[in-house]
Amino acid sequence: MADHGENRNDSRFVGAIPEVYERLMVPMIFEAPAVRLADILAALRPADVLETAAGTGALTRELVRACPGAQVTATDLNPPMLEAAAARLPAGARVVWRDADATALPFGDADFDAVVCQFGAMFFPDRVQGYREALRVLRPGGAFVFNTWDRIENNEVTFVIETALVAAAPQAPIRFMSRTPHGYHSPDQIRTDLQAAGLGEVRVEPVDGIGRTTAAEGAVAFCQGTPLRVAIENHPTLTVDSATAIAESALLQHFGPGPIDGSIRWFEVVATAPSH
Ligand SMILES: C[S@@+](CC[C@H](N)C(=O)[O-])C[C@H]1O[C@@H](n2cnc3c(N)ncnc32)[C@H](O)[C@@H]1O
Repeated sequence: MADHGENRNDSRFVGAIPEVYERLMVPMIFEAPAVRLADILAALRPADVLETAAGTGALTRELVRACPGAQVTATDLNPPMLEAAAARLPAGARVVWRDADATALPFGDADFDAVVCQFGAMFFPDRVQGYREALRVLRPGGAFVFNTWDRIENNEVTFVIETALVAAAPQAPIRFMSRTPHGYHSPDQIRTDLQAAGLGEVRVEPVDGIGRTTAAEGAVAFCQGTPLRVAIENHPTLTVDSATAIAESALLQHFGPGPIDGSIRWFEVVATAPSH
């Protein structure tokens, strides 16, 4: 059966989504991967860093911590996400904010010595074009560092919620999570796409972690703080309230009451711009 929901809504992090995303999604599953990416960047000692798909700034804040000498330019497709990010930044941080589509960057050739992107590539409508743009703005020998989620089955809370919502409306299944955030998890495909864009020396490593939440907060986080909310709002039978209740009940049934430690799995990717 076809997915309910349209791909063109999959990148709509707007309206009420940024506030819920920052409050509940970021502490659950985005902070720990951000610390790791920022530490990879810090070891490269970049002077000029471009962050794409920066969202509400989970990684931006870690870059400021880990790379105190760097000038960070943080960009995102959706201005409301960047507004939430700017509001959370420590005073005096060296960050320039700019609205930008990662597949059509408003920067000159070779402006940066590192490009970094946390959990954004899955949303690019044309990933090879996004990688070509990263390569274009990189200086020779510069690094393109990013991460992507593994398949949904290896990300427990997300899988429980999507399974419950599909079971609740099988005639119009919502599969935003498996289609987009968890729709780009083949290391071979990632390598092929990066090489097609002209990047070399690609490293792709799996990482396992834990996402801590509760049934109530996890349900609100996913159903109200991601573009899953847009798919629910456009659904013929589900509402945001009913979907959130279905998700909470599924999490309670799967994990029991109390704190949830759900397994999460993602890939870290480091690619290098050719030296000349
Ligand atoms: C899952 S969020 C990740 C945000 C942030 N990096 C973090 O770690 O919390 C995905 C982000 O990708 C952004 N995005 C989607 N498509 C994009 C595109 N073509 N160019 C730039 N950003 C995009 C969305 O606005 C959203 O902020």
